[in-house]
Amino acid sequence: MKHFLDINKTSPKALRQMIDHARRMKDARGGRPRGMEDDETPLTGRMVALIFEKPSTRTRVSFDVGVRQMGGQTMVLSGADMQLGHGETIADTARVLSRYVDLIMIRTFEEATLLEMAEHATVPVINGLTNRTHPCQIMADIMTFEEHRGPIAGRKVVWSGDGNNVFASFAHAAGQFGFDLTFTGPEPLDPERVFLDEARAKGVQVTIERDPFKAVAGADLVVTDTWVSMHDPVSARERRHNQLRGYQVNAALMAAAKPDALFMHCLPAHRDDEATSEVMDGPHSVIFDEAENRLHAQKAVMRWCLGV
Ligand code: CP
Repeated sequence: MKHFLDINKTSPKALRQMIDHARRMKDARGGRPRGMEDDETPLTGRMVALIFEKPSTRTRVSFDVGVRQMGGQTMVLSGADMQLGHGETIADTARVLSRYVDLIMIRTFEEATLLEMAEHATVPVINGLTNRTHPCQIMADIMTFEEHRGPIAGRKVVWSGDGNNVFASFAHAAGQFGFDLTFTGPEPLDPERVFLDEARAKGVQVTIERDPFKAVAGADLVVTDTWVSMHDPVSARERRHNQLRGYQVNAALMAAAKPDALFMHCLPAHRDDEATSEVMDGPHSVIFDEAENRLHAQKAVMRWCLGV
């Protein structure tokens, strides 16, 4: 069973094949993100369940469109509307869905829910985000970096802000794709050490630097994300803003990175909080390519899972 649960659980060879496949599928569409089915429709006759226990724009639309472009069909399910949200076990849900569909994508809160779904499903399961990681996003980010700047191996990526689930998948990717990663943010919002240690054990340089201007020196890519994640309590907002204000990605911070550094944000953004509109809409920014590449990268992930 080929589940796509996390970047560190998928071999570097398979990850590389998926990124390269995504590039080929994107090129074959002649640069159009929208429109008719692909020439190849390997998901013809296949049904994909897309389960959301949290809100989504990009993940929901890009998976849905991606399946349709490949000739398949989707069923978008809200966790709250399923029996899953009313006491049915994850294991039973996984067993039942496996009798109806060929592939399950789930966006959920606890990583344990994803893992239990994968353990009991008899079809592949894809992680569409948990509180802990967001691997599909980082597949799109690697693809985006490489289409603008070539191989990411050996490059320097700097994350400014909260050490959240998207950072965690960047740390997984650092080890698997071989790039150096610096985290800059306040100590209370440091990422879990296990993510940093695992990447270091794979031979890449992983650094924590409290001064954001020192952190971005020599950066090929500067990344940030919303200061208050979907699973964070609303009451944390003011404290988070006070902690993170100094880590805003603005023109001055980008000027301290390499002159050709890229800027990424997985979106949705709170403009002029974690990043200024000047940066988001400026010459370093590739945020909308990133969003588009969710579509292409996830098509490659789904084909890898199904072996088609
Ligand atoms: N980046 C991302 O996952 O976006 P959505 O929350 O809109 O799916």
